This record gives sequence, C-alpha cells and structure tokens, in this order.
Amino acid sequence: MSREVKSVDYGLEKIFEGAQDFLPLLGTDYVEFIVGNAKQAAHFYKTAFGFQSLAYAGLETGVKDRASYVLVQDKIRLVLTTPLTAESELNNHIVQHGDGVKVVALWVEDARSAFEETTKRGAKPYMEPTVEKDEHGEVVRAGIYTYGETVHMFVERKNYNGVFMPGFKEWKSDYNPEPVGLKYVDHMVGNVGWNEMNTWVKWYEDVMGFVNFLSFDDKQIHTEYSALMSKVMSNGNGRIKFPINEPAEGAKRSQIEEYLDFYNGPGVQHIAVATDDIIKTVSAMKARGVEFLSSPPHTYYEDVPNRLGEHMEIMKEDISVLESLGIMVDADEEGYLLQIFTKPVEDRPTLFYEIIQRMGARGFGAGNFKALFESIEREQELRGTL
Ligand code: FE2
Repeated sequence: MSREVKSVDYGLEKIFEGAQDFLPLLGTDYVEFIVGNAKQAAHFYKTAFGFQSLAYAGLETGVKDRASYVLVQDKIRLVLTTPLTAESELNNHIVQHGDGVKVVALWVEDARSAFEETTKRGAKPYMEPTVEKDEHGEVVRAGIYTYGETVHMFVERKNYNGVFMPGFKEWKSDYNPEPVGLKYVDHMVGNVGWNEMNTWVKWYEDVMGFVNFLSFDDKQIHTEYSALMSKVMSNGNGRIKFPINEPAEGAKRSQIEEYLDFYNGPGVQHIAVATDDIIKTVSAMKARGVEFLSSPPHTYYEDVPNRLGEHMEIMKEDISVLESLGIMVDADEEGYLLQIFTKPVEDRPTLFYEIIQRMGARGFGAGNFKALFESIEREQELRGTL
C-alpha cells in the first residue's frame, strides 16, 4: 500500500482549539487484534468485509511463537495475530478477553519523540523505541498503555518502503474478494469501567494533548432500561477520534456493563469505518454474511425529514432504501450522516463495527442513540444479559 510521506500533505492544521502540538499524529497506522485463529479470522475479513491480503509473518518467515496476517482496504490496515505455542504470553490475552483489539497504532513522524513526550506526561510504557530494519528500510515503533490492556503504538515509517513492516513478507493469495468500499477509520470507541470516564478523558488531555469536543450524559443516552455516558476525545487535526464510554445506573444491565463483563475489563468497543456509499457497502456486506443490528421501526423513518430539516434538500439517498437496509440517519448544523452497526463479530458480545458515511456532519449520531440502544437491548434480551 502506498502511503507517501510528504510534508506538504500532512494536513496537520489544527482544527480543535486547545489541543496540544507535542504529539502530531498523521492518522491511524494499523489496528492489531489478538485472536484464537488468525488464519480463519483473516478469511472472515476478506470474505465478509472485503479486505485484501497484504502481508504475513509466521513460521515461514522465521517467527516461532506467533502468526500475523495483515489485511488492507484503502487506508485501513488490520493485523490479526495468534499465538503458536502454549508458552506465548498472547494466550492470556485470549483467555481474558476473547478475540479483541490489543493495539491501536498511530502513524507519527517521530516515534521516539512521541514516546518521550507521552511517557514524560505520565503514560505507562509498553515498548521502548525500537528500530526494525530490512532491505526496504527501517520502521521505528514505541508503545504506551491506554485503558485496560490496550496499547497505543507509535509507528514511524518515513524511511520505509516495504509492504508493511520489517519481519513481514508480502502475502500473495489466490483468493481476493472485491473490496466493499471501506475507506478509513473514522473513530474507535473505548469502554471503561464505572467512574473511569473522566480519568481517561484527563489522560487523553494530559498525556496525548487531545481535546474533549463532544459530551453526552446519561440524560441524553438512555432507554427505558439502561444508560451510558460518553465523551469524544480528538487530537488537534481531528484525524484521531476516540469516544470513551462509561456505564450509568439504569433499571437493567447496560450494553457497556455487558461488554465489561465479557471482555473482563476496559477495551475497544467498536471501530467505525467510513465509506462514500453506505448503501452499496452495506448491501455488499449483507450479501457476504455480515450481521447487522435490526432496523429501527418504520416510525423512525417517517420522522427522518423532520430530523434532517434543511439538510433534506441535499440528501441523495432514498429513505425507503435506507429503511430496507436498516441504515440510520442523523444531522447536525453542518450536515447529515448515515450509519449502521454490526452485531459483535466474535462469540463474546464485545467488539463490533460501525459503518458511517459523513455528509458534512461531524457528530456521532446522537439522535440515533436511543434507537440503537433499543436494538442492542433486543440482542441482550436474547443473550439473557439485559
Ligand atoms: Fe461510533
């Protein structure tokens, strides 16, 4: 995948006042999952989500204790890693959390500086700056812990032109399903424990220089049964957005509590990926077997013109098509957005995906929270975890 590093197109202009400049982030570099069977997980992401084979590391490349498959779709890179031996420390991650996200890697200009600036502000180190080399150049990586066992890895690849990273070889496959139009990671959401949201908001402010640019309290995010609170953290150029959720008291068990119980602590709840054509993307994903949450009721779609107001004029999508696919609509002052959520993609009710198409709106679909959570609660009811 070509990711040319040119200083002219960094796009590091500050769009959020108050964000600090000590940690310039160019984008999401990769997301690494620890899974029970990486070979099969890779097949799922190719077949169902339209990812392409990119790189591989394992026994054939001299790695003895793990196998990793790297998948790509436009700017999104997933790394699926599994332990090969009983002694591997990765096993404990699977025992504790099931399949889940271990690393949210951030693309930086200078990994050593990113490590130094964040650890001096209180980040717990995960990996000291490390240089990896091969015939294509060098990559410098360093990592810090965030919530739970999740890690932010800083990746500096300006002196590298290989397919992914030293230690990996190109993965050529005879099986190459078409992409479904997923383009980049829009945001990644973390679930943290009771009374921990503000601790992590402050951590992202102090350690990473992020700003809190949107907040939702339990008065705004609730159903008849459950509630949660959420604060959206962003870096200065808006490329990295991490909403953080915390459960709130409700009559029944909220989806956040369910997550925390099954993930055995804080972790990544959902990955939102952007598309330019959500109808095409979601139709393809459904045809390939991806399961989405059930559609909101018909009354929800009758209310869409009200909700969109003046943005109705620019809306190109046919509401009945959105309804048939279960795609939700929300608007803010700047435009509208279309979004839909998958069911969890592993047996534990933990990580799921959001597919989002932004038509000017910068929000997160607050107007859909109630319909969304009611849909999740119908699933929780079936699992006996509400
Ligand atoms: Fe989201």
